[in-house]
Amino acid sequence: SWTTGNVIEEQVAAIREQVGDRRAICGLSGGVDSAVAAALVQRAIGDQLTCVYVDHGLMRKGETEQVEKDFVAATGVQLKVVDAQERFLNALAGVSDPEEKRKIIGREFIRVFEQAQAEIIAEASGDQPVEFLVQGTLYPDVVESGGGTGTANIKSHHNVGGLPEDLEFKLIEPLRKLFKDEVRMVGQELGLPEEIVQRQPFPGPGLGIRIVGEVTRERLDLLREADAIAREELTAAGLDREIWQCPVVLLADVRSVGVQGDGRTYGHPIVLRPVSSEDAMTADWTRMPYDVLARISTRITNEVKDVNRVVLDVTSKPPGTIEWE
Ligand code: XMP
Repeated sequence: SWTTGNVIEEQVAAIREQVGDRRAICGLSGGVDSAVAAALVQRAIGDQLTCVYVDHGLMRKGETEQVEKDFVAATGVQLKVVDAQERFLNALAGVSDPEEKRKIIGREFIRVFEQAQAEIIAEASGDQPVEFLVQGTLYPDVVESGGGTGTANIKSHHNVGGLPEDLEFKLIEPLRKLFKDEVRMVGQELGLPEEIVQRQPFPGPGLGIRIVGEVTRERLDLLREADAIAREELTAAGLDREIWQCPVVLLADVRSVGVQGDGRTYGHPIVLRPVSSEDAMTADWTRMPYDVLARISTRITNEVKDVNRVVLDVTSKPPGTIEWE
């Protein structure tokens, strides 16, 4: 019968068998799937696994620390963190178009990740070769993509002596038979922090696509504060299950007049976008309690510099998407 204990035992044995005494790499995104996949592989092969976390500066408050500290403490995983905040900000400078932002963030991410990979491979030279790449592919992803698996060809743009131009990895995909709720159960059993295991969906491009307008460090800091307040109040109100996700969006290119103390302000609006959904394909705006909305609004306008208005998005998907960009 299916138990998380059985799944873990089976996977640990299979991974040991597959990897032997060679080495593996895993990219951590801060999300549930990569975290649980990494934790499983770590349980199986320990320090033969190295994880890479690219800090692109687009994460929410506390999320990078969660990976760097709590995840490492819970798993004992060997982690390489690359601080690429400056690089992403530079690449995004002057860009407002959503698809352009996505392209840039995706491209920079791959470059930074490959550079880190190359360094890990170079450091391991003389040691056992790095042959495996861990991926948090779930069952629905397998079905969607037609079930293929095996190897990943990674073109290398880096310049590290002695590496082939084209790196080929064999894939380790320990979650291939699992659904999301099962992955969460396995993560829990492996002792991962609740904040990681129960994390709601968050887009790869992160806060970069929640700033309508150009992405700057100052705007990111501001949005991070507003988002942290909203998340804190939603959690305190016990709404984390009812709400599928709640993007908090900064309308950086919009200004509106307000009054605070005895002064006129000219600040930016923050949009709250709480949605209820089964699979993100369709969604409805969440009818959440007014008093919770009131607390979030009061706190954001009081605590976040340059924000003088909080507005609620009451659009379903379709016609609106969940994200604003
Ligand atoms: P939309 O906005 O299309 O979002 O209704 C549907 C779901 O996908 C997430 N999303 C993304 N996830 N990269 C991601 O990894 C992206 O570029 C991206 N855009 C949207 C969104 O948060 C929602 O869960």
